[in-house]
Amino acid sequence: MNVALPPQIIPQQSLKALNTFGLDAHCQAYAAIHDEASLQAFLTQPEVQALPKSVLGGGSNLLILGQVEGLVLHNCILGRRVVEDHPTEVVVAVGAGEPWHPFVLWTLENDWGGLENLSLIPGNVGASPIQNIGAYGVEIKDVFVGLRAVHLQTGEVRLFEQAECAFGYRDSIFKRALRGEYIITEVSFRLQKAPHQLQTGYGAIQDELVKLGKSVFTIQDVSCAVIAIRQSKLPDPAQIGNAGSFFKNPEIPRTQFEALKSVHPTLPGYVVDAETMKVPAGWLIEQAGWKGKRIDNYGVHAQQALVLVNYGGAIGREILALSEAIMADVLSKFGISLEREVNVLGA
Ligand code: FAD
Ligand code: EPU
Repeated sequence: MNVALPPQIIPQQSLKALNTFGLDAHCQAYAAIHDEASLQAFLTQPEVQALPKSVLGGGSNLLILGQVEGLVLHNCILGRRVVEDHPTEVVVAVGAGEPWHPFVLWTLENDWGGLENLSLIPGNVGASPIQNIGAYGVEIKDVFVGLRAVHLQTGEVRLFEQAECAFGYRDSIFKRALRGEYIITEVSFRLQKAPHQLQTGYGAIQDELVKLGKSVFTIQDVSCAVIAIRQSKLPDPAQIGNAGSFFKNPEIPRTQFEALKSVHPTLPGYVVDAETMKVPAGWLIEQAGWKGKRIDNYGVHAQQALVLVNYGGAIGREILALSEAIMADVLSKFGISLEREVNVLGA
């Protein structure tokens, strides 16, 4: 049971330690949220209603530009509960402020399958539906049951089922029609008891599993494999500021893909459907010559061209300008418009 701490407004709070880019930024007003009921009461106070609001989770998918006007609601709601227990599966409801990876480890300790491929993704549970987080062949939509959210203006609670969330690749209704309208307070997932169906289609996972020298693999083995791959490829935000993939992998018409492939025979592509191909933005950015490029204290990661990094002391505007230069260059060289995955916060 959580102890209910009513939210307190803190003026001019630094957000530097609250975003994985490590960008120095402040917000006009900040409040940590610890439970849904006091959040509802807080949101209906006239001085709170008057402020524009944004929501902060673990800060791992944010590019903060200087001063953030209005109130930043930092979701710190904890708690993990089994809400349904069946012979073959469980449904768990998890507080939005629970850190994602420790939650995944808890499911693995309980031998519940479904989230192992999503091991080691930074951030909190409450943000996971925002972009329908995904990695190594799994997205949260595959195990998502529903969520609770509070309307930022009215304070009313609304329940969302899977179909209402309009999940897509790094996409949901919360990035589109309902952008900035709700704060998610709890998310529910359906997880499988043993025997588990493993998702090991990604070649890199197979390569890691072979190293274990076993013939039968567990969800815990898949998690270890995913962790090893991620640690070998992605910079640890504790060492170098970053927000993971800065851009989405673009989806383009198959005709455009084939025309590009005839000029660039090494262009990789993954089939989305009969008319559409997805191409890795990392490849486009590397081919355009940006991989490893460093400008003062920021740049493009040397091992993963899709990750922009802050070596320390960069400001949000510099990284935004770098991303715009990359987008313009990729557009002129390949005719492909990149879309930012990272959410921009601030003026
Ligand atoms: P924040 O960065 O705090 O917020 C992200 C967005 O969600 C913001 O718009 C914010 O307003 C909104 N938001 C946050 N919490 C709530 C809430 N409770 N209610 C309403 N809105 C909310 N992502 C992947 O999908 N796959 C990956 O493999 C992956 N790898 C990564 C690797 C690294 C090294 C890093 C740094 C990031 C990676 N990411 C990945 C991106 C990021 O981890 C995810 O998007 C994550 O879900 C963000 O969670 P967060 O709590 O940090 O959200
Ligand atoms: N590539 C390059 N150069 C690079 C990086 C990538 O050429 O510097 C090409 C290679 O062809 C490589 C391909 O891109 O085979 C794919 O690279 P990788 O496997 O590293 O995956 P990604 O497409 O860069 C995506 C997600 C990651 C997710 C991994 C694993 C997006 C935008 N990114 O990265 O998610 O962890 O696949 O599933 O879809 C994130 O969203 O923040 C994130 C890290």
